[in-house]
Amino acid sequence: MRPTYLTIDTSLVRENLRKIKDSLPEWSTSTAVIKANGYGHGSVMMGRIAVEEGYESLAVAIPEESVPLRNAGIMVPIYLLGLTRPQSFELVADTNSIPAVCESTDLEALNKVADNHDIIIRVAVAVDTGMHRIGIKPEDAVEFIKRVESFPNLAVDGFFSHMSNADAADQSHAHGQAQKFHTMVDEIRAFRPNEDYRFSLANSAGLLSVKDSLFTDARPGIIQYGIMPSLDVPNRLGLKPVLSFHSEVVHVQHLDAGEGIGYGSTYVTPGPMTIATIPVGYADGYPRSLSNRGTVLIQGTRCPVVGRICMDQFMVAVPDTITVKPGDKVVLLGSQGHESISALEIAALASTIPYEIFCGFSDRVPRQYI
Ligand SMILES: Cc1ncc(COP(=O)(O)O)c(C=O)c1O
Repeated sequence: MRPTYLTIDTSLVRENLRKIKDSLPEWSTSTAVIKANGYGHGSVMMGRIAVEEGYESLAVAIPEESVPLRNAGIMVPIYLLGLTRPQSFELVADTNSIPAVCESTDLEALNKVADNHDIIIRVAVAVDTGMHRIGIKPEDAVEFIKRVESFPNLAVDGFFSHMSNADAADQSHAHGQAQKFHTMVDEIRAFRPNEDYRFSLANSAGLLSVKDSLFTDARPGIIQYGIMPSLDVPNRLGLKPVLSFHSEVVHVQHLDAGEGIGYGSTYVTPGPMTIATIPVGYADGYPRSLSNRGTVLIQGTRCPVVGRICMDQFMVAVPDTITVKPGDKVVLLGSQGHESISALEIAALASTIPYEIFCGFSDRVPRQYI
């Protein structure tokens, strides 16, 4: 096996999922958001664990992401959070997914596909409560129900909206979104008192810090993996990161002063130095923006990245306090000895967010589940 791999601690995933579920009132269902290959953690494994932990449904972005889940025998409802174009409606039917719909959706074409398959396709109505990404206006919900109901092979499963500022210190926008959703829910319930629609607003940040954002269903993503959506969201459930990134030193060299390292020689040794080469690059999802900025752990010691990250390799400076040889274990994300490197640290250095770091880990890095 490649010496470079991601480790995902499944007992910690379970612990996180349980803590999230236990924090919800018993009337709330939970949908585990496992799009983008489970935020890089592996959607099939994450989906399986979520179902075993009692999560009633899963959510991905596009119907293609439902395929591996269905092939793995996962049969719970799968919601598609993005809008699906007509050329993918067949896949919606084949995978028995619940597509997001709004006024941009060709409901007639969707109904036709459902009719051809002799099935009813359930749809989740996307509602724009203030993010302005996708969705109908909340005040149009009742009319939209009537429109969906005009198609014999379509049925409304429920309504969802997404929060754009729930992870901010200032919660006024988040409460505004929750309030709009609330008003819409009241109108729908007055119109259809006997329907048991699913109403879903709260994402991770909503669940942890915006009380009025929980309706009948919770939709956590990043917190399942033990990562907070932002520094402004307190980890009040004590969730723990589940993923670490490992490799091994492949080469060690001793250089004199004045040697340029890597493409463009952007780092020049200020004096005699020991340099170790790590067989990981931006093609694995280790961001190139960590060139001359990142740090890895070898023998529990922080070793700074020197020079540019290449496609498949990069170099680090080895402090004089340790002696390094090929085969020494390297931690790029996670703990070694008393030191640790968090996803947030890497994301901050790379001027991005942990979400992007996780989604960026490529298929060429094996996932090891422990
Ligand atoms: C529509 C929708 N719902 C839920 C989530 C989960 O968000 P988070 O990972 O912040 O919990 C996302 C993530 O991007 C999303 O797009």
